[in-house]
Amino acid sequence: MKQSLNQPIIHLMIPLLFLSTSVLGDDEREHHRSYPQQGAALEQYKQECGSCHLAYPPRFLGKASWNQIMLSLGNHFGESAELEPNEQQEILHFLTQNSSSRRWYPFWKKKGEEAPIRITKTRSFRHEHDEIPRHLVVNNPKIGSLSQCERCHTGASEGSFNEHQVHIPGFGRWDD
Ligand code: HEC
Ligand code: HEC
Repeated sequence: MKQSLNQPIIHLMIPLLFLSTSVLGDDEREHHRSYPQQGAALEQYKQECGSCHLAYPPRFLGKASWNQIMLSLGNHFGESAELEPNEQQEILHFLTQNSSSRRWYPFWKKKGEEAPIRITKTRSFRHEHDEIPRHLVVNNPKIGSLSQCERCHTGASEGSFNEHQVHIPGFGRWDD
């Protein structure tokens, strides 16, 4: 309950605490991880959030983003993905607990900028995918959009996005 009082201190501390680990090791570690090993919670997440698209691994978005997504399921990218209130709470908890460790997002975001609700709009995603020619994706009926991670990442259903497990349909193995 004292959160508002502590906020200024937290704002100063967090960047100092996490800057070093985030900058040095995060990307390497994150890409080679799988889903969080949390049996029942993971199953529930996959069941409720994996029917229309891949159940995106929680590490690809920060807390603020997952909050925003989970609080607007009534209009989820033009569709309804509404859940029972208790399920919504449990999944929100699972997602935020395992969200990206890039905790400094709130500090360097531009004033008034909203947290991204698409993984494909995050800076790190764009950075990793900017060499893929657009026509390979949008005009390719076997892919359709970059949101369909599992079409190219053969380990995606296990939560693995290792660069050695990329195969673009109609193009082949991606080596760079
Ligand atoms: C009824 C179908 C449906 C369900 C159920 C659903 N989604 Fe989605 N979701 C969509 C559609 C459609 C898009 C937009 C995909 C596109 O643009 O290609 C989307 C996109 C997303 C994206 C952004 C992907 C990107 O482009 O980076 C996230 C994150 C996401 N959903 C999370 C969730 C979560 C969390 C749940 C479970 C609470 C969920 N979705 C359940 C239909 C669904
Ligand atoms: C059109 C095919 C395609 C789609 C769809 C796609 N990716 Fe990728 N992805 C790639 C390619 C190609 C690379 C670059 C691999 C390399 O570095 O050689 C990559 C790299 C990555 C990396 C870095 C891997 C590493 O070890 O450096 C991550 C993480 C990643 N993608 C996540 C995602 C996520 C999450 C989605 C869905 C929201 C997605 N990708 C959708 C093709 C795709």
